[in-house]
Amino acid sequence: MCGIVGYASTISTACGKPLEVCLQGLERLEYRGYDSAGVALAAPGMDQVAVRKKAGRLANLQADINNRPLPDATVGIGHTRWATNGEPSDVNAHPHTSQDGRIALIHNGIIENASRLKFDLQAEGFTFASSTDTEVVAKLLGRIANEIVDTTGRPDLFEAVRRTARMLTGAFTILAVDVRQPDIVVGARHDSPLVVGLGEGENFLGSDVAAFVAYTKQAMELGQDEAVCVSGGSVTVTDFEGHPVTDSRRFTVDWDASAALKGGWDSYMDKEIHEDPRAVADTLLGRYDTDGDLNLDEVRIDEETFRQVDKIIIVACGTASYAGLVAKYAIEHWVRIPVEVELAHEFRYRDPILTPRTLVVAISQSGETMDTLMALRHAREQGSRVLAICNTQGSTIPRESDAVLYTHAGPEIAVASTKAFVAQVVAAYLLGLYLAQVKGTMFRDEIHQIVDSLKAMPAKIQQVLDSQADTVERAAKSLADARSFLFLGRHVGYPVAMEGALKLKEIAYTFTEGFAAGELKHGPIALVEAGEPVVVIVPSSRGRDLLHNKVISAIEEVKARGAFVIAIAEEGDPDTERYADVVFWRPACPTLMSPLVDVVPLQLFALDMARLKGLDVDKPRNLAKSVTVE
Ligand code: M6R
Repeated sequence: MCGIVGYASTISTACGKPLEVCLQGLERLEYRGYDSAGVALAAPGMDQVAVRKKAGRLANLQADINNRPLPDATVGIGHTRWATNGEPSDVNAHPHTSQDGRIALIHNGIIENASRLKFDLQAEGFTFASSTDTEVVAKLLGRIANEIVDTTGRPDLFEAVRRTARMLTGAFTILAVDVRQPDIVVGARHDSPLVVGLGEGENFLGSDVAAFVAYTKQAMELGQDEAVCVSGGSVTVTDFEGHPVTDSRRFTVDWDASAALKGGWDSYMDKEIHEDPRAVADTLLGRYDTDGDLNLDEVRIDEETFRQVDKIIIVACGTASYAGLVAKYAIEHWVRIPVEVELAHEFRYRDPILTPRTLVVAISQSGETMDTLMALRHAREQGSRVLAICNTQGSTIPRESDAVLYTHAGPEIAVASTKAFVAQVVAAYLLGLYLAQVKGTMFRDEIHQIVDSLKAMPAKIQQVLDSQADTVERAAKSLADARSFLFLGRHVGYPVAMEGALKLKEIAYTFTEGFAAGELKHGPIALVEAGEPVVVIVPSSRGRDLLHNKVISAIEEVKARGAFVIAIAEEGDPDTERYADVVFWRPACPTLMSPLVDVVPLQLFALDMARLKGLDVDKPRNLAKSVTVE
């Protein structure tokens, strides 16, 4: 939620670069929030920071700046907002300024003690224009910065930000600029992301690397409760007390700036669905040796510790939790230990049973989901080890975990998660196979066979993309006006049904529900009336005949009540052909691999439905890509 960018360079003459970097950064960060956007610039000689902010999409801000250009500057900060506190409006948009207008501040998160602080500031005569917690912090910072000037005779924004941060409770990343120090940008973070981009004669700050990857791939993580001061030639990190931090981890961003561009596609979502095969292939890369044995040295947990694991708890939200549910079926089957899948926001409130032999697996595309972060912290406090499955380098969840297995899906920009899902399933499968290998619960050749099946999946996904897109589009056209959908699946088809339902509700705003097909007669069938669209994931009859027959029975039952059935089934399945109104065909593959292909037409279907309704598929209403507040 909320995208943040900051820029400082060694060039002491004001120019257009700070604004250019901020707008570029905001464009790439807009997926984090798009309720409003704003920038603040500072340069030598300014009495007050130059601030411009507009409600709505970044394009509104850009148009406003084109009409009334902003002055050249030496430093800048920019913000794109997902409103938590105060409605989306010009006045609530960030940046907010100090009472004297010398300082501008942007913020991501929620300040829990904002009302108390505001009350105190009001008692001192401060006035507020917005209804945001951020303005409270801006006013507070301004007051503290002026106190420092009064007592020491010189400005010290770095110290002022640290003192301010010590007074805040809640979750926050703040960035600030001050016209009295127009060569620096200062930031601080607590339970909210901030990374540093390291350039030549210029440095950057961003909520994630997308903010600056067009300028540099060299980045540095900031730890919890750390403050940072960047100028063009230096980056200084301290804790909130001012003690230097010298061991910040540096890394090279492993994707190119062009990977975060649409590259000719109509939407990021369309592009990212078509990157499903690559996401699977890249996530497999380097994870097995020439003999087919799994090699996960990178995760930094020794084999003996893995051998001791007697239970896995997967914590995640949304799509990531459905990837976890798919993995549960596979891991329990391969490793013969219980796997629980828990929505991260429920996890720590139910007193879960955690021991040093429990492996908690936190799955997150962004690596910043606050609910998942809180769950993993709880697990570690209780003495369990946490392994993150994550797509974003330098993010908080892998940094706070004992180990990390990165999915190599590349940047996922569309709010609806697509390629991350298939990559998460693959990464969790690799973990399961690795556990089976070190625990000896499977024969080597069995593991090799499954690795071979995984290696075959990118081509099968591609086949679905190439062969099913037209059928999917026709089905979407015929159902564009449907008011609701039911999705049914069994076994691994059940989480896929829920994922398909989630895609459709989040981007096409259609009421959908995903059910275990076996639940149908326990309630949901009451919803079926003539014409009701029901999407059914049909397992292959090969090897799982019983399961297949039961799902076919479910199709018959809903058909008998007038449902319009869309099935996803294995090529040549005569039963499905007989009963379903439309079939999206899957190439033959083992049942445990089927989620990797079955989800693809469902992603395309949601995309087509949203397009047909004329909706913005990449930026659905009310949502943000990274949910960094609880
Ligand atoms: O970044 P994460 O994987 O932790 O995000 C979890 C969910 O917020 C996310 O999957 C969400 O459900 C997506 N918008 C679904 O498409």
